[in-house]
Amino acid sequence: MGYVGWRPARDVLLGGLRRLEYRGYDSAGIATVTPDSPTVEVHRAAGPLDELVRVTDAAGEGDTVARAGMGHTRWATHGAPTDRNAHPHRDASGRVAVIHNGIIENFAALRAELEDDGVELASDTDTEVAAHLVARALDAEPEAGFTAAVRHVVNRLEGAFTLVFTDARRPDEIVAARRSSPLVVGIGDGETFVASDVAAFIDHTRDAVELGQDQIVTLTREGAVVTDFHGDLAPTRPFHVDWDIAAAEKGGHDFFMQKEIEEQPAALADTLRGHLVDGRIVLDEQRLSDQELRDIDKVFVVACGTAYHAGLLAKYAIEHWCRIPVEVEVASEFRYRDPVLDRSTLVVAISQSGETADTLEAVRHAREQKARVLAICNTNGAQIPRESDAVLYTHAGPEVGVAATKTFTSQVVACYLVGLALAQNRGTKYSDEVEREYHALVESADAVKEVLASAVEPTRQLARDLAGSKAVLFLGRHVGYPVALEGALKLKELAYMHAEGFAAGELKHGPIALIEQDLPVVVVMPSPKGRATLHAKLLSNIREIQARGARTIVIAEEGDETVRPFASVLIETPAVPTLIQPLVASVPLQVFSAEVARARGYDVDKPRNLAKSVTVE
Ligand code: F6R
Repeated sequence: MGYVGWRPARDVLLGGLRRLEYRGYDSAGIATVTPDSPTVEVHRAAGPLDELVRVTDAAGEGDTVARAGMGHTRWATHGAPTDRNAHPHRDASGRVAVIHNGIIENFAALRAELEDDGVELASDTDTEVAAHLVARALDAEPEAGFTAAVRHVVNRLEGAFTLVFTDARRPDEIVAARRSSPLVVGIGDGETFVASDVAAFIDHTRDAVELGQDQIVTLTREGAVVTDFHGDLAPTRPFHVDWDIAAAEKGGHDFFMQKEIEEQPAALADTLRGHLVDGRIVLDEQRLSDQELRDIDKVFVVACGTAYHAGLLAKYAIEHWCRIPVEVEVASEFRYRDPVLDRSTLVVAISQSGETADTLEAVRHAREQKARVLAICNTNGAQIPRESDAVLYTHAGPEVGVAATKTFTSQVVACYLVGLALAQNRGTKYSDEVEREYHALVESADAVKEVLASAVEPTRQLARDLAGSKAVLFLGRHVGYPVALEGALKLKELAYMHAEGFAAGELKHGPIALIEQDLPVVVVMPSPKGRATLHAKLLSNIREIQARGARTIVIAEEGDETVRPFASVLIETPAVPTLIQPLVASVPLQVFSAEVARARGYDVDKPRNLAKSVTVE
């Protein structure tokens, strides 16, 4: 985050960082620029933001007169998360400071060049070189100006970098450059901001301008000037942030994840709203013709982590409704295996943040191969939707907890909307059938509400009972399989517990060897009213593990009496259509992982080593 204005910069920056902390938080730092000081004042601290607050408080009143500066929360890529490697970094004279998101891929060559010239680098980071290079450019051509010096340097950098610079001799100016990682400008009254996310400055202004790829912004109190990497004025896209700070606050809940779990009915309803118009499914942005969509003969879904699990569910819906083959792939693997893509391939990229580097690179690869790309995203105007041919936004609102919850279930219904849009377009479903499916999706919000009312408390109790377990396994079949994978991922990331999800049928091919006395195994049962064979097969699987001593925690449709004798613990969910079941079955698993984490004394919203937005590959 960067700030130029009339308020004490230190307060603005620490407040903004508090709101950005969820993006990455192994260390943090601020730099402030005070008129007449020869150096930029920097405070940094490893650990959570509170450490930085302690350090700045201890520094006393020194820099409280500064009205400009910048701050950063770091998620380490090059160099351990120590005070020394925390951002901002300064050049040797202390005149220029920089903060950075991303990776400067040619930093080793630049570092060697600086070291050959006798410059001593103070950190192990790839970032620090940028401060030295800008200071040198300023010294070499003092008349050219701060923005020109930054432009000169960014044109030498390779990789993904979003950088913000301050210069001690310019206490009223901040320059930032964007390549890949996001950057938004906030325009206030006599003050301007720049940040990775509007959340950083939403307390002060809701008027924002999004920076595009390869753009530089120069901030002064009067406003922002945006240019490209050649120095030409660049077109900008001003927008008004349509959510307020209450949406990003805990609202009486102990932690954000809890609030976000409870917001799911609203998130689902908001995601679906307005997408059925005159009996037809409409997307948000559609730069593909109906004919181009009809020509699609193959779909790839690419995504990471939880979004990948939503993608697995897309496969069941799209293949069933549209009769098109669908492959689902982890985005980081997709482009490296030379997938077969052409104009008649649709790549569906799912990303809550719209910034995930792995997914973005998969999108770019797909487009280079002439495939059509449709993005499902929760962040308006993020890079992935910008680079896609069609977009469907999930309207889950800001998700602050690092673990995806409401954005996951919203992604699932968004995937289903895409399936319905393709089905209507290809004529594999009549419009009345499309409407019926759409209304079933709308009703899913009530089913999730019901499960929140009935299943949360028993699940919490169960979580507290099992918090001491060494491992938990998760089993499912058909649409229950991605739910099992997602349940395991949530438990791993929040409770740091060994957790694995399996297709229940795979158990006997190896993993059953893991079953031992009292091992908790969570089973996602299909509806007894669905395909009878599926239900019967899973019942057999439960018996197999129970016979080997497992403690069976079964998530089943209410009224499914056949499963009761085999469940050590039964969690009932409302009866819903097959494709909706993942939405209701996921909720208890989200609650379970959060509660186990809490019982083990971990920070539910900020699990260790993780960041909300992963902008490096
Ligand atoms: C897990 C989680 C991550 C994200 C993944 C993709 O709870 O949140 O696995 O789902 O990093 O992030 P987006 O959706 O922003 O691309």
